Amino acid sequence: MRWVDEGLVLQATLSQLRRKDGDAPARTTIRPVQLKDGLHYQFEFHYPNKAKHENVPAAQAGERVAQWLEEHYRQALFKTKEADYQILFSKKGKAAVLKKPATSQAAETADHNRKKNRVLADNAPAPFLIELGIMTAEGKVKDSKMDKYRQINRFLEMVTDVLPHLPTDRPVKVIDFGCGKSYLTFALYHLLVIEKGYQLQVVGLDLKADVIAFCQSLADKLGYEGLKFKVGDIAEYKESASADMVVTLHACDTATDAALAKAVGWGAQVILSVPCCQHELFRQIQNDNLKPLLSHGLLKERFAALATDAARGALLESVGYKVQMLEFIDPEHTPKNLLIRAVAAEVPESVKRRKWDEYVQYRNMLSIDPYLEKALGEERRPRPVIEGEK
Ligand SMILES: C[S@@+](CC[C@H](N)C(=O)[O-])C[C@H]1O[C@@H](n2cnc3c(N)ncnc32)[C@H](O)[C@@H]1O
Repeated sequence: MRWVDEGLVLQATLSQLRRKDGDAPARTTIRPVQLKDGLHYQFEFHYPNKAKHENVPAAQAGERVAQWLEEHYRQALFKTKEADYQILFSKKGKAAVLKKPATSQAAETADHNRKKNRVLADNAPAPFLIELGIMTAEGKVKDSKMDKYRQINRFLEMVTDVLPHLPTDRPVKVIDFGCGKSYLTFALYHLLVIEKGYQLQVVGLDLKADVIAFCQSLADKLGYEGLKFKVGDIAEYKESASADMVVTLHACDTATDAALAKAVGWGAQVILSVPCCQHELFRQIQNDNLKPLLSHGLLKERFAALATDAARGALLESVGYKVQMLEFIDPEHTPKNLLIRAVAAEVPESVKRRKWDEYVQYRNMLSIDPYLEKALGEERRPRPVIEGEK
């Protein structure tokens, strides 16, 4: 089918099953996706309680569409930039093609979104966003969910930047600690598996059994086979011996530190962490020279949060990570807008040692005793610099 092979189809829907008692999906939709190895079409098979996905190279997709149509469906709608084509098959197998004015905005939307740097386009239905109530069934982002939608896109931009640090020759292992309702976990899966064709094994961990049950049922419904959810405490989590990427978004107080320590212990290449509720150091910080700052509760709270994240950054640098402190989303929307992005790097021992010494000086100046330092353990501390070493 030339329209598909040449990438002219922006979206297609095959429907009206020829046989109601067969095991073919009630509806199949296809759309183009640009993967690492070129243009593909993503087939989404809609079964009663779940969807399955398959990415097919564009050059083979036309034949697959023709075959599925012939075997299973009596109706198809192909949306191209120039026109919409509806194909109807009579019971005797005779096809009628109706040409209608183009309705798909996908091409313009894609351009528009590229300009705005959004990974997930508005007006392009993404099943997980529809299920999570962020988009309508037609793919329009709901006004009330615009902030969440922006946050998801911002997160995916940050993930996109670190993709070169993740393996491509085997499944990428990701752990999302304190995943909660998992908007961002589903978004990560969508981006890496469905949009980019990675193999992914993701575990979302949270203390709340009901939330985990909801997330697992949604993953099953969406056909996200590499996405598993488990109930558990971050600090006690022992099921994995390794992870390529550890994500911890808004895990409260020292739960973030427990997650960072696990990530370092596993040698994770990438850590993405949005801390929240940094209470630990609020109770500890003392320095008489800082009295004007520490004697006002509000100022002390804000300072303690920044001081906590500075300690985390310094500790991660002392064990060999390159660390960036990034603005997660516009502070207008939430004060919890700092993202720590850490990437494992080849850092000379002397640099690690210097970072450690800077950290010790800082920690002593504030009279603090952070959880993360203890959780990392003494064995991870950089060794003393040897004379003449670079
Ligand atoms: C504010 S929610 C954030 C959810 C999600 N990561 C997000 O950013 O939308 C924090 C989640 O962390 C979970 N949590 C807090 N401490 C935890 C711990 N020690 N172990 C596992 N989960 C924890 C909570 O149950 C909650 O669901």
